[in-house]
Order: sequence, then structure tokens, then C-alpha cells
Amino acid sequence: MSKPEEKKESGGWKELFWNPRTHELLGRTASSWGLILLFYVVFYTFLAGMFCLTMYVMLLTLDDYTPTWQDRLATPGLMIRPKGEDLEIIYNIKNTESWDKYVQALNTFLTPYNNSHQVLNNDACVPDKYYLQEDSGNVRNNPKRACQFNRTMLEDCSGLVDRTYGYSDGKPCVLIKLNRVIGMLPGKDGQSPYITCGTKKEVNSDFVDVTYFPPNGTFNLMYYPYYGLRAQVNYTQPLVAVKFVNVTLDTDVNIECKINSNTITEFSERDKFAGRVSFKLRINSI
Ligand SMILES: *[C@@H]1O[C@H](CO)[C@@H](O)[C@H](O)[C@H]1NC(C)=O
Ligand SMILES: *[C@@H]1O[C@H](CO)[C@@H](O)[C@H](O)[C@H]1NC(C)=O
Ligand SMILES: *[C@@H]1O[C@H](CO)[C@@H](O)[C@H](O)[C@H]1NC(C)=O
Ligand SMILES: *[C@@H]1O[C@H](CO)[C@@H](O)[C@H](O)[C@H]1NC(C)=O
Ligand SMILES: *[C@@H]1O[C@H](CO)[C@@H](O)[C@H](O)[C@H]1NC(C)=O
Repeated sequence: MSKPEEKKESGGWKELFWNPRTHELLGRTASSWGLILLFYVVFYTFLAGMFCLTMYVMLLTLDDYTPTWQDRLATPGLMIRPKGEDLEIIYNIKNTESWDKYVQALNTFLTPYNNSHQVLNNDACVPDKYYLQEDSGNVRNNPKRACQFNRTMLEDCSGLVDRTYGYSDGKPCVLIKLNRVIGMLPGKDGQSPYITCGTKKEVNSDFVDVTYFPPNGTFNLMYYPYYGLRAQVNYTQPLVAVKFVNVTLDTDVNIECKINSNTITEFSERDKFAGRVSFKLRINSI
């Protein structure tokens, strides 16, 4: 208890900072400061080393072509085009402006599906068979080719014959795509998965009259498996177009479309959003 008194006598608070008698800076000698500095240098070097080591090990285990972690959903999601706002397609037949935005969205979306583009980029594959291009051990079979999905396969919904995709006469087309899942094999025994649409409570019913393109609403097996954008640069996602040919006018019609497959059904009961998409269709005439 004599130290503080000593300091007070011989110079007050200034000596707290630098004490000329004991050569202490902020109460510590040079060698004490040196030790502290040394400790922190060693400590942080060690931390940086640990960080680099973990990063190095991580990078070693990463593969350029397939994500290490990906969504292992048993049932991939569906999405529609045009999306509208909040998956609502609402327009008035008489008001061209109210549906032109949907037509424009479809035109843009389908541009890469032009036959000319498909023929240039992709292969004409054998239908109803997986287009397998596996790597053999460590030898990469890259780049991988993809199959042609011609715009003309969407027939009445291709925008080529009917440039308004049926929007102008109250029989609109909606395109459905299945979310990409790397390596997914969506069907067995040569049976492609297919889409069915209905009103919300009665999917599979004929309550709404729909026509599917390609026929039967199938995502052909030849477009699978998907190997990822790095490996399969020109991959073209297959589509199913659904044309609603008998929509009751001036009424909200809640549509639900779902995927049917003989391999990806198991989890559909557990997650009611998996493998299906719901949207509202309303066509006004007044
Ligand atoms: C795709 O085809 C449509 C209709 O024939 C045409 O308007 C459009 O310019 C084409 N796009 C490309 C990029 O070739
Ligand atoms: C992708 O398409 C381009 C033409 O646009 C073609 O030159 C290239 O070979 C294609 N790549 C693969 C892997 O198919
Ligand atoms: C796509 O269209 C081109 C020409 O229009 C044709 O040669 C090709 O066979 C078609 N591919 C498929 C898979 O139908
Ligand atoms: C559509 O399905 C029916 C009955 O399941 C079948 O007979 C027909 O061959 C299918 N069409 C195509 C193009 O797959
Ligand atoms: C369209 O649906 C109405 C009832 O909503 C029905 O009376 C009519 O026969 C249907 N037309 C066609 C072509 O299916």
C-alpha cells in the first residue's frame, strides 16, 4: 500500500504514464511490454496458420464441378412462367396491355429454345433414355453435352403459331419447369415424369380443361441427369406447356400442377409444397 502514496508524492498522474525513475511505461517495464508483444505475435501467427490450414483442407475436398452440399430434396420444386406477381396471372381479354406483359415475358424466356439455337448448341438425343455421361474414376468426361429442347415442341404454346400464346382469346399457356437437381434421375423403366394440373382440390380431375405440350405433359428422361452448369454449359431445361382451354371468365380459378413420377413421390405427402406449384388464374371479360 505504499506504492500509490509514493507516486502521489513524486509527480502525480504523469508518472502513471512514464515513470523516469523505474523506467516504466504505463506501469510496465520495456521487457514486460516486449513479452506481451511477443505473446500476441505468436498467438496471432498461430491463429492465421490454423485458418490457412483449414481453408487448404476445405479446398482440397471441394470439387469444381459438383457442389459439395446441395439440396437433397426427394421431390424438387416446380415453377411457372410467366410468374405474374405472387404467382397470379390476371388479365382482361379486351385490354391488350393487361396481357402483353405475359406475352413479352414468354418471348424472352423462350428465346434460347429457338430451334436454330438448339441445333447449334445441343444434341438430338434418343428419347425415353437417360443421357448418361459419367466420369470414369478421376478422368472427367467434360464438357458434357445436353439435349435439344426445340421451341416447336411446345406447338400451340411455342409462340410461333399463335404469337399471343392464347392470351388474346382466353386460352392462355403457362410454362412449367422442374427445378434443377444435379444427378437426379426422375423416372425408371423408361417412364418419364409428367405434369398434371387441376383446380386446387381436385388435381388430376378434368375439372379444368387443359392441353399439355409436349403430349402427356412429360419431361423426357433424355434431359436427365443434369450435371451442373460448369460441366454441362449448354444445358436446356425441359418445359411442359399447359394450355387452359376452357377457363370460366370473371372468376378466380386456383390451379395446382404437380409432378408425377415413379421415383420421386415418397416425400410428397410430408412436404405439401414439394413437387407442386399453385397459382391463380383470372381472366376478365368486362
Ligand atoms: C427466336 O425466334 C423468335 C420467333 O421466330 C424470333 O422472334 C427471335 O428473334 C428468335 N431469337 C433468336 C435469338 O434467334
Ligand atoms: C455449347 O454451344 C456452343 C455454341 O453456342 C458450342 O460451340 C459448344 O461446343 C457447346 N458446348 C458443349 C459442351 O456442348
Ligand atoms: C429441332 O429442330 C431442328 C430443326 O428445326 C431439327 O433438325 C431437330 O431434329 C429438332 N430436334 C428435336 C430433338 O426435335
Ligand atoms: C401418352 O400417354 C398415352 C397413355 O398413357 C400413351 O398411349 C401415349 O403413347 C403417350 N404419348 C406420348 C407422346 O408419350
Ligand atoms: C367449358 O366449360 C363449361 C362449363 O364450365 C361447359 O359447359 C362447356 O361444355 C365446356 N366447353 C368445352 C369445350 O369443354
